[in-house]
Amino acid sequence: MAVLDILLYPDPILRQTSSFVDLKDTALPKLVEDMFETLRASNGIGLAAPQIGVLKRVIVIDFGRETEVSPLALINPEILWRSEETTPFRNGCLSLPGIWADVVRPAAIEIKYYDENFQPQLLKTDGLLAVCAQHEIDHLNGKIFIDHLSKLKRDFLIKKFFNRKMQEQEDLITQK
Ligand code: NI
Repeated sequence: MAVLDILLYPDPILRQTSSFVDLKDTALPKLVEDMFETLRASNGIGLAAPQIGVLKRVIVIDFGRETEVSPLALINPEILWRSEETTPFRNGCLSLPGIWADVVRPAAIEIKYYDENFQPQLLKTDGLLAVCAQHEIDHLNGKIFIDHLSKLKRDFLIKKFFNRKMQEQEDLITQK
């Protein structure tokens, strides 16, 4: 297993659309393992393959504790149904560390996907898992959570992100 580098905004790969995985793809078990390892090393709860530079429709979710649904690998996930009811939820992203914002999304969804054993699965869910799955599926379509915000809010957060990055670099130089 290996901990992989996570691409940071504004890496152009994060804007590309990922391809459906061929279920005979022999690289898949290692990809899923490496993604879980990378996610666990980074204190996140969800990771999509494009965030490690692999343009395949693969997602891993791990809430850091065993639950009925976590940890979970979703291969070729598709949202079949979205509730009309929406709910705001705080989103963060490993590709935009330090940035958080409320995103309004459907409160419940039904997803079709393949698990890591290539078995087809159906999952109807709400709460944190619904938020996380929608956030990660967005990544497979080249979308980042800040895209859901107003331009004003988005520009503000992007500026904050770059200021933070610059500050970190300055701190590194001062320490030397
Ligand atoms: Ni993300």
